Amino acid sequence: MNKLAFPILAVLADGKFHSGEALAQQFGVTRATVYNAIQAAQTLGITVFSVRGRGYRLPKPVTLLDADAISQACGEYAPWFHLQVLAQVDSTNRYLMQESARGVAHGTCAVAQIQTAGRGRRGRTWISQLGGSLTFSLLWRFQCGAAGLSGLSLVIGLALLRALHEIGLADVQLKWPNDLVVMYQGQWHKLGGILIELQGDMEGPSAAVIGIGLNLEIEQSMRQQIEQPVLGLNQLFGQSLNANELLGRCLASLALHLNQFAEHGFTYFQETWTRHHAFHQQAVNLLMANGQVVPGQVIGVAEEGSLLVETAHGRQRFNAGEISVRSAA
Ligand code: BTN
Repeated sequence: MNKLAFPILAVLADGKFHSGEALAQQFGVTRATVYNAIQAAQTLGITVFSVRGRGYRLPKPVTLLDADAISQACGEYAPWFHLQVLAQVDSTNRYLMQESARGVAHGTCAVAQIQTAGRGRRGRTWISQLGGSLTFSLLWRFQCGAAGLSGLSLVIGLALLRALHEIGLADVQLKWPNDLVVMYQGQWHKLGGILIELQGDMEGPSAAVIGIGLNLEIEQSMRQQIEQPVLGLNQLFGQSLNANELLGRCLASLALHLNQFAEHGFTYFQETWTRHHAFHQQAVNLLMANGQVVPGQVIGVAEEGSLLVETAHGRQRFNAGEISVRSAA
């Protein structure tokens, strides 16, 4: 992105008008350079209002991410993390996978003010907007190999769910394997998702890049690009959540759960996870990779995190990555 685009957006984050002239003066450039930087921001899908005689402004104020504020919100867990606040990145997962291969420390968390090519599960893209989403990745190193990490993605879902419950969002539930969902206006809506990418040998040690996207505010234009009902946490909360505070609380909860997972594995969480599963004992449709739709009823999750479903062929186990689950109600 244009080098000046983010510094200008940081000034516009107050939601007020700033004239091209004042911005040009502040950054020691011409008004044309400011104009080009704004254009560059707009090509990334960032809406900037431009009004003749008044200048530029964002549709509403945006709380920018700030390492000190995030650290403070982590509380006693702050020393566990190495925070990197990135102005703009294609994907925090891609970035951290690369950094992990270079040997960055366990507990490194990369969070993006603007993510332009977020990766979703099953090859999908994850769409986010400045101030409208919290997009971050956490690097966690394990002594065991990738084979010992089954159920990890479910535990991450549970850690986030607990952080959201703590701030008062008690209705949030989990959808196997790791979506955060809520029943809103009679329909399940997705609030956030998790994408875990692994590095290392099957025997160990291994490293997990845990990518998390939480919707804060969903604009109409964004809703149209997403194939399932989605909702922002702000809408659910009834007011704007502070992204720094939210991230700090999520990280603290992740540290706690990841530690317990490294010690006990998924079985330790199996019962609690099932209690929070939105589709437990519900009729569902399983969407297979080949397009086939298999109806069934959810029975539970197995000790290694696979989904147990009663189908016309009897009790079957499905691994994450094999299927997508939709409510049949
Ligand atoms: C899903 O499809 O539900 C998982 C979405 C995960 C998105 C997050 S946003 C931060 C991190 N970086 C990425 O590129 N993807 C994950």
